[in-house]
Amino acid sequence: MEVYITEEAIRNRIEVLARDIDAWIGDDEVLCVANLKGSFMFFADLVRKLKSSRLRVDFIATESYIGTESSGQVRIIKDLQQVCRGQKLLVVEDIVDTGLTLFKVLEHFATMHCPSEIKVATLLDKPSRRKVNMQPDFVGFTIEDSFVVGYGLDYNEYYRNLPYVGILRNTKER
Ligand code: IMP
Repeated sequence: MEVYITEEAIRNRIEVLARDIDAWIGDDEVLCVANLKGSFMFFADLVRKLKSSRLRVDFIATESYIGTESSGQVRIIKDLQQVCRGQKLLVVEDIVDTGLTLFKVLEHFATMHCPSEIKVATLLDKPSRRKVNMQPDFVGFTIEDSFVVGYGLDYNEYYRNLPYVGILRNTKER
């Protein structure tokens, strides 16, 4: 396992992202939504840095990956438990890769929940892999085309507990 983004770099970057997101939230009500499971660590670290007192959290879950490959079929397997009508909504992702998951999630929120405005924060962005035109609003790190794990991201459900982002060069390492 090769350390790609250290714990310290992640911590420092989240401080900056939180300031940008706070500026966008302003005095408005916001629902912060983690897309499980990959974003759970980033989400927890990010929301605790946000200053708003009109902030709620909720969770959705999507599924598309098998091993290191996306099946291309994105399914929403868990929806919000709260209503988000006419309020700001922040989607928090672990990584935007092909963009297919984000496309599905944004379409779902726009049609099923009616927020006033949706923005997307992602820890990682792999723009070279995009299959649909998706640009997250708040990006932690733009990365090369490698399969990464740790800090919430998995390979077949393993490595999520690593406190840093690592590159998995050989998927037989499991
Ligand atoms: P997309 O639909 O291709 O943009 O992929 C989004 C989802 O695939 C992410 O939320 C991750 O769960 C997973 N994913 C994409 N790239 C990686 C990676 O390098 N490591 C681990 N998971 C990944």
